[in-house]
Amino acid sequence: MRFFHFHTPEQVPLSGSPECAVAIDVLRATTTIATALAAGAEAVQVFADLEHLQEVSQSWPAPKRLLAGERGGKAVAGFDLGNSPLDYTPDRVRDKRIFMSTTNGTRSLQRLEKIPVVITAALVNLGAVVDFLKQAAFSEVWLVGSGWEGAFALEDTACAGAILYRLGYHIQLEQLGNDEAVAALALYQTWQTDLLTLLRRSSHGQRLLGLGPENDQDLAYCAAVDHLAVVPRQVQLGVLTHTG
Ligand code: MLT
Repeated sequence: MRFFHFHTPEQVPLSGSPECAVAIDVLRATTTIATALAAGAEAVQVFADLEHLQEVSQSWPAPKRLLAGERGGKAVAGFDLGNSPLDYTPDRVRDKRIFMSTTNGTRSLQRLEKIPVVITAALVNLGAVVDFLKQAAFSEVWLVGSGWEGAFALEDTACAGAILYRLGYHIQLEQLGNDEAVAALALYQTWQTDLLTLLRRSSHGQRLLGLGPENDQDLAYCAAVDHLAVVPRQVQLGVLTHTG
């Protein structure tokens, strides 16, 4: 398997045809998507645009849908849920379709949606994603961070590095596809024993903490490795379900 890492969706090349893309938004969209599906949500349907989300969600039966929206780290007024993974409890989301739009994570998924296999990764479902990639043995995989409005995000690149490390690429660096993948591995190796500090130090971690110290609970949850055995996978354009 040959792996490429792109820090942001904007860096993803317009040409090229990997068999699989892995969208990463540790803080917090892909952590939340994994949590929602592990808690029994029927599916998560993602949208870059809030108006489009509201229009499409109207065609779904009201008792079976939840609207989830985040902009700038804050919940969108009038929506059922924001983007805190801690709100996606089984009582709240079981059997519901989550119509979701976030600042960066859902845009990143939209950028990748035409790639044959699209999955999402976060630290919470790291092991499940690694097992999936090992079994699938794709010839080329793109690991794509969501970043923040086009800029690099420390936590997404560290998660890409964690995937590569678990797959053993730190002992076969020459098989990595680009410099970004090598850098991701090095970043993860530096922080692997203290991922919570990395999340707190990251600019989006700082932004969330600035919005309210209670967001530290989200950071702690997002930094916890391997506690969900789900691999969210796109089954129709923009619609993710649980394959783990
Ligand atoms: C995003 O998509 O940018 C995020 O997931 C933001 C957040 O809710 O923390």
